[in-house]
Amino acid sequence: MDNNILLKIDEITKFFGEHKVLNKASLTVEKGEIVVVLGPSGCGKSTLLRCINGLEDIQGGSISLDGNVITQKDTRWTEIRQKIGMVFQSYDLFPHMTVLQNILLAPLRVQHRKKQDIKEDALKLLERVGLLDKKASYPSELSGGQRQRVAIVRALIMNPEIMLFDEVTAALDPEMVHEVLDVMLDLAKAGMTMVIVTHEMQFAKAIADKIVFMDNGEIVEISKPDIFFNNPQTERSQRFLNKFNYTEKR
Ligand SMILES: Nc1ncnc2c1ncn2[C@@H]1O[C@H](COP(=O)(O)OP(=O)(O)O)[C@@H](O)[C@H]1O
Ligand SMILES: [Mg+2]
Repeated sequence: MDNNILLKIDEITKFFGEHKVLNKASLTVEKGEIVVVLGPSGCGKSTLLRCINGLEDIQGGSISLDGNVITQKDTRWTEIRQKIGMVFQSYDLFPHMTVLQNILLAPLRVQHRKKQDIKEDALKLLERVGLLDKKASYPSELSGGQRQRVAIVRALIMNPEIMLFDEVTAALDPEMVHEVLDVMLDLAKAGMTMVIVTHEMQFAKAIADKIVFMDNGEIVEISKPDIFFNNPQTERSQRFLNKFNYTEKR
């Protein structure tokens, strides 16, 4: 086995009732690789990410992390999820806790790490995302972009091996989008492995090592960004990009 492969999704199939929302989807993610998943609304992007960290069960295929199959009946998800950080479109910070308390909660309760150690880590991470001065603020006192950066810190403090981002800027006002994308670019530079669902095409083009294009529950194309945006390999990806006016040749 290629031991650079961190995540291997092998022909997974997912049904919601009778509705097949993932159809034999396969994808590998190498250590340090940045994978951006694109596709029309409803094509199964969120479901794919949710299957990776066990929020949804699958009906066929398998998912492996570090060479171990994690989609088994006896998978200990509490352990696995510490290796898989996830940030969603809507930040679910606890409103009655400060930024720092929100960040410390999981490492204290789940990882049983020493408070002093993780507090140091938390402050370093807050500084890294430009929010050290907000450590004692409550979520209601923050902007959407600041809350989303806290949500990213809350995932990072667990020292995940991979980060999953599901449209983390989709609910933000335009002027706050870049401050969150900048944090993700910084993580990419630092070598974090990431799977990113986004509709920010310029960002996707800039950050991705490879683009995964999904349509109707299927992975239709996996290409380098240069190929995908300039010379999409399938008719379906071409049609999708035309909606964004993104194919540069004409
Ligand atoms: N909990 C659910 N129950 C039933 N159907 C769902 C559920 N979640 C998503 N779906 C359906 O699965 C398909 C894929 O959804 P989703 O993964 O959210 O797509 P995307 O993130 O690409 O917009 C859609 O048809 C959606 O309606
Ligand atoms: Mg979605």
